[in-house]
Amino acid sequence: MKLILDTANLDDIRYFNEYYPIAGVTTNPTILATEGGDVVELLKKIREIIGPFKEFHVQLTETKFDGMIAEAEAIVGLLGKNTYIKIPATDEGIKATKFLSSKGYLITTTAVLSSSQAMIASLAGAAYVAPYVSRLENICEDGVAIVADIQAIFDAAKTDTQVLAASFKTVRQVLSVALTGAGAATVSADVMYKLLEHLTTDRSVAMFEEDWKNAFGDVTLGELIAKTSK
Ligand code: E4P
Repeated sequence: MKLILDTANLDDIRYFNEYYPIAGVTTNPTILATEGGDVVELLKKIREIIGPFKEFHVQLTETKFDGMIAEAEAIVGLLGKNTYIKIPATDEGIKATKFLSSKGYLITTTAVLSSSQAMIASLAGAAYVAPYVSRLENICEDGVAIVADIQAIFDAAKTDTQVLAASFKTVRQVLSVALTGAGAATVSADVMYKLLEHLTTDRSVAMFEEDWKNAFGDVTLGELIAKTSK
């Protein structure tokens, strides 16, 4: 399962792009509003940081077909290849998805709250559908089970559409979604940190360093090898 970073914060994007194996960045209007300022410059900067090959998912703000098409063209014109246009699973959105996918645009159907919406989006040509795990759980639905249903529907239909699971609050949710065979998950910086951090790992690393120093002093293994090969 690919991991994508769900933020528009430039410091977080720089950090995770350098250190973690992220496949790209996702944003939505709320995420962009959180950063504020010159949003066009912000989007350009994000593309500059992640480079031209990683996925960049940017959501439309237009809600009617004609405006959606023009806005999608403008976004791809600004951000180039590997830019996915996020379009909510509305009737206007599905009409725009049919049109844009037939022209070769990469579409991520977003705000997906049911497997039937995911099926319609896939038939309309979406590259990804983004079911919202926590938002489902907050209305007493089983978010992970719905992701599993969508994945099973896509497997049965042998479609190329992938699941990009979204709206995570916990590491457990991410791991449960990974077990469904979903193609990707987009997570906040906070959840991304928690996927790797472990106190026992930190303690183990500290112990290795201490044991090494106690035995060999302030020298690295690489330095010792360099000395013997001179
Ligand atoms: C994906 O990009 C979604 O917009 C995002 O994951 C939603 O997350 P939230 O429910 O935490 O706002």
